[in-house]
Amino acid sequence: MISEFNVETSQKKYPVLVERGSIERRLAEFIPAKAHRVFVVTEESVWALHGGRLKATLETFGDRVKVLHFPGGEARKRMTEVEALADLMLEAGGDRSSVVIGFGGGIVTDVAGFAAACFMRGIPVIQVPTTLLAQVDAAVGGKTGVNLVGGKNLVGAFHQPLGVVIDPDVLGTLEMREVRAGLYEVLKAGVIRSPELFRMMAEHPFKMLAREAPYFDQAIAESVRIKCEVVSADEKEGDLRRILNFGHTIGHALEAETRYSLLLHGEAVAFGMRAATHLAVRLDTLAPETGTEIVEAIEAYGAIPTLSGITSEALMARLVSDKKTVGGKVHFVLPTKIGETVIRSNVPDDAIRAAIEASL
Ligand SMILES: NC(=O)c1ccc[n+]([C@@H]2O[C@H](COP(=O)([O-])OP(=O)(O)OC[C@H]3O[C@@H](n4cnc5c(N)ncnc54)[C@H](O)[C@@H]3O)[C@@H](O)[C@H]2O)c1
Ligand SMILES: [Zn+2]
Repeated sequence: MISEFNVETSQKKYPVLVERGSIERRLAEFIPAKAHRVFVVTEESVWALHGGRLKATLETFGDRVKVLHFPGGEARKRMTEVEALADLMLEAGGDRSSVVIGFGGGIVTDVAGFAAACFMRGIPVIQVPTTLLAQVDAAVGGKTGVNLVGGKNLVGAFHQPLGVVIDPDVLGTLEMREVRAGLYEVLKAGVIRSPELFRMMAEHPFKMLAREAPYFDQAIAESVRIKCEVVSADEKEGDLRRILNFGHTIGHALEAETRYSLLLHGEAVAFGMRAATHLAVRLDTLAPETGTEIVEAIEAYGAIPTLSGITSEALMARLVSDKKTVGGKVHFVLPTKIGETVIRSNVPDDAIRAAIEASL
């Protein structure tokens, strides 16, 4: 299965490929022939597993290629690491005609993209995401950045890549928990924008979890298509792009409450989607039977780790403190039917609390 989509923004138009074997077959076409240096930013572990697949492509660039290892992990997604990468790039002869390849999960693609956005005031990046989350979300759309002590992703830049090469084959080595977490985001794409994708996800949880082609590849391609479409229509976080935040309002509160250590992002989003679905039914934007369908589809992907000790009060407090940082209003993306949503603010606290309690 070969799928090719385009992101079209004010900055750039670029292709996003979804194809097994695309790392060998297609990556080279994105690397500018005149690039003085080709910097591959990656994690050592990812490089050990899949670096060999870039070999033939990179061989043609000879010693212009430099592989830079980034330590990985949310705690290292910081300005210091971007500076360290920039120093290494300069030492290795990097200049304005260099190019960066981000080869790893969402942390690597965020850091590599941001380093490329800053180095010499901006050099091109090609994204080659290697986790499901990065393939369907992080690597598409041009958002790059790092964390501050005060919060996640608070320093960054929009830096659209030259292209995104998505090869589902690399996901064969991904841990099951990471696969499941990514699949929750795929399910999200179905709920907000694609009844076909939702049905496919609801009907085939075991095939998806087993990464079975063609189902798995189709689900990736369809969620990538949706991300490309939404980002093209609304590059910088306007109302349309906000629909991608379905499940993320309460999901973020839960991630913060569990100190970003207990849950993977996708797991927190799964919890948030379940709560937002309860909220939608409570606020009458969604029919109860459709609400049940969505909750059952989420749960078909397996248990979200137990949340002992988490209270609705604690999550409410997190939502309120979030409010201070995002302009005074909590926004909820609420489904109205499968494939469509509405964005609501000014939702009464007791409705939110009840929806959280129904999900705990
Ligand atoms: N820029 C955006 O629009 C955007 C969107 C969503 C998420 N993000 C960011 O993405 C990050 C999370 O990304 P993630 O979930 O990919 O985490 P990650 O990058 O930490 O990867 C998860 C784990 O998988 C390992 N891994 C990567 N590829 C592998 C492979 N092919 N086989 C085996 N193991 C592999 C990594 O070493 C890591 O341990 C967060 O920092 C989040 O803020 C950004
Ligand atoms: Zn997300």
